[in-house]
Amino acid sequence: MTHTTIAVLVGSLRSDSVNRQLAEVLRGQAPEDVSIEIIDGLGEVPFYNQDLDTPDDIPASAARLRDQVSRADRVLAVTPEYNGRMPAVLSNAIDWLSRPYGAGALVGKPFGVVGVTPTPYGGQWAHADAVRSAGIAGAKVVEDVTVSQSALEVDVLTDPDVLARLTNAVRVLVDYDAEQAAA
Ligand SMILES: Cc1cc2nc3c(=O)[nH]c(=O)nc-3n(C[C@H](O)[C@H](O)[C@H](O)COP(=O)(O)O)c2cc1C
Repeated sequence: MTHTTIAVLVGSLRSDSVNRQLAEVLRGQAPEDVSIEIIDGLGEVPFYNQDLDTPDDIPASAARLRDQVSRADRVLAVTPEYNGRMPAVLSNAIDWLSRPYGAGALVGKPFGVVGVTPTPYGGQWAHADAVRSAGIAGAKVVEDVTVSQSALEVDVLTDPDVLARLTNAVRVLVDYDAEQAAA
């Protein structure tokens, strides 16, 4: 059985983040053939600055981020929306992962996004923003993965329908076949 590792970028640093908890639920429910690795320390990664991004030396937190994503087979962002776009912490992670130009850790990596917000729209602008940006950074965006879930009328951490949709999103990301998609 092929084993797939998914690196998860959580777009909220809040200690009680619902999106973080959702990522943990997905990790707990991951099928046998899937490992979900939530990337810690995104809040310690400095704002992307080309002066810091030299061939010999980059900040340890950014190096760790690049390394974890490079080793993963897939990348999933689990994120709320801030002011109609993805939160800065996720945007910053994508910037670090987009360099070196043409050879960043996201290049060719199947990428999906899910997330929840306490609004009727579930963060859909943030999710559109994240897939556009990751695509420009060279990721293979798997559009069918996207789930923008409202948390207004449902406990997203326990609702069976919500969890089934999110588990299915993970499965779509895992099953994505880049060669077939290109054919
Ligand atoms: C600075 C800021 C801006 C926000 N802007 C939006 C927004 O544009 N759209 C939205 O749906 N929710 C917005 N929210 C609400 C967040 O979606 C909500 O706080 C969410 O629960 C955060 O996710 P978390 O629980 O994972 O931290 C905003 C929250 C903050 C703090």
